[in-house]
Amino acid sequence: MSLMTIQHYLTRAQQQHAGATGELTLILNDIVTSCKRVAQAVNQGALLGTMGDLGSQNVQGEVQKALDVIANTIFLESNQASGLLAGMASEEMDDPYLMPEGVHGRYLLLFDPLDGSSNVNVNISVGSIFSVLRCPDGVVQPQLADFLQPGVQQVCAGYALYGSSTMLVITTGSGVDGFTLDHGTGEFMLTHPQMRIAEDSREFAINMSNQRHWPPAIKRYVDECVQGASGPRGVDFNMRWVASMVAEVHRILLRGGIFMYPMDNKNAAQGGRLRLLYEANPMAMLVEQAEGLASTGRQRLLELVPHALHQRVSVILGSRHEVERVQDYFSAE
Ligand code: F6P
Repeated sequence: MSLMTIQHYLTRAQQQHAGATGELTLILNDIVTSCKRVAQAVNQGALLGTMGDLGSQNVQGEVQKALDVIANTIFLESNQASGLLAGMASEEMDDPYLMPEGVHGRYLLLFDPLDGSSNVNVNISVGSIFSVLRCPDGVVQPQLADFLQPGVQQVCAGYALYGSSTMLVITTGSGVDGFTLDHGTGEFMLTHPQMRIAEDSREFAINMSNQRHWPPAIKRYVDECVQGASGPRGVDFNMRWVASMVAEVHRILLRGGIFMYPMDNKNAAQGGRLRLLYEANPMAMLVEQAEGLASTGRQRLLELVPHALHQRVSVILGSRHEVERVQDYFSAE
């Protein structure tokens, strides 16, 4: 089997875009390097002595793991040397990270360096999620407001999944392609070209322990799934919950399904559970590019205009017909 390396893939993609300067290709190369380095750190597990809590909290009030901080440092280090970024923002940092004097890149990188990190200690898949935006024209030192762009403006988005194999899944707006890391050569190889989400599915993912807090539309949808063949849907459904969004989205890309982390009575004060700019938006771009849908339940996720860097949001994404059904239930409320 002859597979293409991610470097060849990126070069080829660049050649297909008339007027491309190669900057985005270099930025993506640095993101690839970050993901390889994080994969290595995650893979070493307890050998590195980095599995514990740090005793500190991030801006979301979540306990930081040593690996969260290591992964964040890896992303910052790997992505600033090129000088092609104007700024970065991360789940692990309160404020945007600005580039040193004299660096005037044209892009912004937003990332969650280690998503699902509560799974790290128990050796369940975790991932990194990233989103690339254009720095607004004429802006040399981007301010917070420059990062608050709706998801439709993303130039590129993707994730790395540190699972039974390490994979990188990306979109630059022409479909979704998946690469598997060959640990022998250190290369990501194109193993999953043009991934597409099945329109229909019989698998849902939600944290059922929040059931009593859900809005009526979600209760109705899940209740109908759980009733299976004897309920209004007339078919049996399967349920999965990895508690690692990257793993859930990956599964949905491969075999369809719906993922829901709605705003509910428990998280309403924060606006939801998942972060808009570096979790929901990049995943929404991937899902739409793979012909699925991504919604808050009431509107297209990618059209939300952000008002805060660490803003949270209601997320319902996956197989088109299932997401449409949930949206219909919200409209009927
Ligand atoms: O921070 C995000 C995250 O870890 C996601 O990856 C995952 O989907 C979710 O939180 C898990 O939430 P819970 O702890 O409610 O299962």
